[in-house]
Amino acid sequence: MTLKSSTIGVILVAAGSGQRMGARVPKAFLEIDGERLVDRALANIRSATLDAQIVVVVPAGFETEFTGQTDLTVVTGGATRHASVAAGLAACLPSVDVVLVHDAARALMPGEVFARVADEVRASRHGVVPALAVVDALKSFDVSTGQVTGAIDRNTLRAVQTPQGFVRADLERAHAQASEGDYHDDAAVYRDAGFVVTTVAGDSRGFKITHPEDMERALMLLRPAGRDQRIGTGTDVHAFGPNKGLWLAGLHWPEEFELEGHSDGDSAAHAIVDALLAAAQLGDIGGMVGTSDPALAGAHGDVFIAQAVTRLREAGYRPVNVTVQIIGNRPKLAGRRLEAEQLLSQWVGAPVSVSATTSDGLGLTGEGRGIAAVATALIEQVAIRA
Ligand code: CTP
Ligand code: MG
Repeated sequence: MTLKSSTIGVILVAAGSGQRMGARVPKAFLEIDGERLVDRALANIRSATLDAQIVVVVPAGFETEFTGQTDLTVVTGGATRHASVAAGLAACLPSVDVVLVHDAARALMPGEVFARVADEVRASRHGVVPALAVVDALKSFDVSTGQVTGAIDRNTLRAVQTPQGFVRADLERAHAQASEGDYHDDAAVYRDAGFVVTTVAGDSRGFKITHPEDMERALMLLRPAGRDQRIGTGTDVHAFGPNKGLWLAGLHWPEEFELEGHSDGDSAAHAIVDALLAAAQLGDIGGMVGTSDPALAGAHGDVFIAQAVTRLREAGYRPVNVTVQIIGNRPKLAGRRLEAEQLLSQWVGAPVSVSATTSDGLGLTGEGRGIAAVATALIEQVAIRA
């Protein structure tokens, strides 16, 4: 069947701003596991093989995001969900007889539910919504006092999802009669106009992605075997200078000789930065900051570690844990190891373990000419990029 003769129209509303998500991009354009929510929703719709015309309703400015996808009609949404659905409805082809309206926010709703809803609308000529039984005990309560005022029989209630399917002409009539203001869903508009709405089985995977923690839940469903994790290694060496006042593992050691370097020469902190960057394939500290940047003269490890963690977030990762081993004769770390671990963990935002060793009198560290450090970092994928 060609698109021109499609009898099913799927209106995918993706024009909301996602205020409760609080991200910098509209919710439907946030990525999970490298894929935008709107694209995941489209993949599920296509998997239902309905031969449908798919109308994607997007925020103003996002109309060119789907160039080349010839099965899509892209329209600009409105200020409310209701207005966005109306814009989608107006763009349905004349051949479309059954319309399914779906929230891009329910990006993981599987294709089989689209087929189930479409079949039921065709068979019954009613409005059809996917519904789930409520499992929690339900109570009414007084909003001002917070006190429970009664119990509600959950057997008479259903949690309703999308896609919601309708006879196109009836949905158009219902929209024409709808009062001002927003509606929670299209079934409410349809029923208000006097049409019948029935239910088919919904699917828990079709939950509405609303708050940041919902992105974590979606990632767990998409990657049941676990998140992408990676490790990285970093090494740094600095020579002792002539003056006292060492900075090492984030701590100041006034009685020890300082390490030379443009910044404070903290080999342990720098090795941690290199390990974090390496894990995410982001190069190394030299590529992240100009090594002769005057703003960084004497800078302490917190500055570099904060930058590295930000780069990781932007690349879609966060640190899981880090180990760093310091190689040198002095200072003796044992007395301050916990203090160093606490501070570095705070900087990294994940547990950092610190250990120290000597090199049996061999090499620059054994001869007491400087300090080396080797770090290993484990990082993992995050649901929301910075
Ligand atoms: N939607 C839309 N146009 C609007 C408002 C919402 O197309 N003016 C869409 C959203 O993109 C979403 C669906 O309606 O796919 C359900 O809305 P909701 O989950 O509330 O998304 P947002 O309105 O974007 O989120 P929030 O309410 O937190 O701002
Ligand atoms: Mg909303």
